[in-house]
Amino acid sequence: MKKLELIYEGKAKKIFTTDITEQLIVEFKDDATAFNGQKKGEINKKGVLNNEISIIFFDLLAKHQIPHHQIKRISAKEVLVEKLEIIPVEVVMRNKVAGSLAERIGLKEGTMLKKPILEFYYKNDELGDPMINQFHIDSLELATVDELEEMSWLAFQINEILYDFLQEKEIDLIDFKLEFGKNKAGKVILGDEISPDTCRFWDLETGEKLDKDRFRRDLGNVTAAYQEILKRIQDGDNK
Ligand code: ADP
Ligand code: TMP
Ligand code: ASP
Repeated sequence: MKKLELIYEGKAKKIFTTDITEQLIVEFKDDATAFNGQKKGEINKKGVLNNEISIIFFDLLAKHQIPHHQIKRISAKEVLVEKLEIIPVEVVMRNKVAGSLAERIGLKEGTMLKKPILEFYYKNDELGDPMINQFHIDSLELATVDELEEMSWLAFQINEILYDFLQEKEIDLIDFKLEFGKNKAGKVILGDEISPDTCRFWDLETGEKLDKDRFRRDLGNVTAAYQEILKRIQDGDNK
């Protein structure tokens, strides 16, 4: 399998075509951005760490029959994936109040939610990914009602799988963002990545932040936090 042309360079990853039409290579970068690209920087070793972390999470989800794009690890920074037509809706799942939810509803970060909250954001950098609901998605035809139902159902399943797995690793899964797409057969599949860039992970005992909030909020020791996540999820067998 050959890596061919760079077709997209995003804020955190590069996408390459391969000699197989329906397969792409994703290369994880060390670049980090926050606040819709307004804050820019680099996190030492992030490309390698996020690739390895994301691979472990996708492998775990595969064991639980969650359909996803990952085919195989290519190198420390690269993974082979199934090409998807990405649905321009970012799906956020929250177990505890943090980040934009804390600001929006005025509850303290860390407040436990009685039930997980599912949110949708329009994936559009120019607009700063505004929050939308199922009626916007339906009316603007960003996804069909059936596709959105499938994405939502998968997001709740994924939350349960990741939450239980991470509790055993002494990690509190506060919230995370998912992206879905459609494959050639029209099936809704989980795409993109699952990493400390796209999730909030807090140490279960101390509440220490082990994710990109360390970069967003200038808390320091960013690489060490990502390394700690990889170390913990590598420990023992992934159930
Ligand atoms: P951004 O585009 O927000 O800057 P990235 O740097 O992470 O983000 O770029 C990766 C891009 O690849 C994202 O736009 C994402 O939606 C897209 N993508 C993720 N998985 C797939 C896939 N399997 N097929 C096609 N595109 C994908
Ligand atoms: P938020 O509290 O800033 O809305 O973020 C919710 C979750 O989504 C958090 O785990 C970080 C993740 N996220 C992304 O992956 N990409 C983004 O662009 C944003 C804003 C959040
Ligand atoms: N991913 C977004 C950006 O790059 C925001 C974030 O992760 O905080 O700006």
